[in-house]
Amino acid sequence: MLSTSQLDIYRNKGYVVVPGLLSQAETARVRAEAEYLFGRDHPGRVMENDGLTVRGIHGCHQVSPLLARLARLSRVLSAAEQVLGSRVYVHQSKVNAKRALRGDLWPWHQDYIFWEREDGMPEPRVTNVAFFLDDVTPHNGPLLLLPGSQHLGVVAPQRREAAERGWEAHLSADLAYALDAARLAPLAEKFGIEAATGEAGSALMFDPRLIHGSGTNMSPVDRTLLLLTYNSIHNVPRGGRRPTFLAERDATPLRPVEAL
Ligand code: SIN
Ligand code: MN
Repeated sequence: MLSTSQLDIYRNKGYVVVPGLLSQAETARVRAEAEYLFGRDHPGRVMENDGLTVRGIHGCHQVSPLLARLARLSRVLSAAEQVLGSRVYVHQSKVNAKRALRGDLWPWHQDYIFWEREDGMPEPRVTNVAFFLDDVTPHNGPLLLLPGSQHLGVVAPQRREAAERGWEAHLSADLAYALDAARLAPLAEKFGIEAATGEAGSALMFDPRLIHGSGTNMSPVDRTLLLLTYNSIHNVPRGGRRPTFLAERDATPLRPVEAL
């Protein structure tokens, strides 16, 4: 569960970093599982533009029993239920590799527009938990956030040409619903930019309307992030056509487990 002050921070700023949500031993197991999945051929695996470096894997809770258990770990699940005020399931899961020296950027964007436009999700009653599987520092491409920007709702959405390329354009450095400089500049001026950093085992919870992105990884250290997107069972999408590794069809509420 989040403390009252953590919940207040989440509501005001649109995000909160929870240090030590996973123990070192748990983090090491999850990190090793991610590394194993990076090496497997899977339709949800996406490469960087060099065609050689893994960028991310999607739908991991569907293929990995360990990651399916992580999604149900009671200390994580209860925080998601608390924020959304209902029972929940995982709509989307991914591990973004952001490899040392090679990991590419994520343009500025809001997540909810993808789920609304592409998956038919009725409301932004959904939240992200991003587990830091490595130490996240200012140098290895931390998530950058505009605190408070979730209060704007969806900002003047603009379907770019990239959107026509299909679901790959939802995962690449040329993102379908990125915010251009003209939109970003006044918002960055108004809200400021903060970086979500912390030790491995910490987790960042953030609102699906929060404007965020991340730069390249210029450091010699990987920045592996596991993102679980929890959706309220009262907010089940209708009519989406994306592959199931991007949009879960099974909305059965998750039951908690106490250990990984
Ligand atoms: C990142 O991994 O830096 C970006 C993740 C996201 O926008 O979902
Ligand atoms: Mn995002």
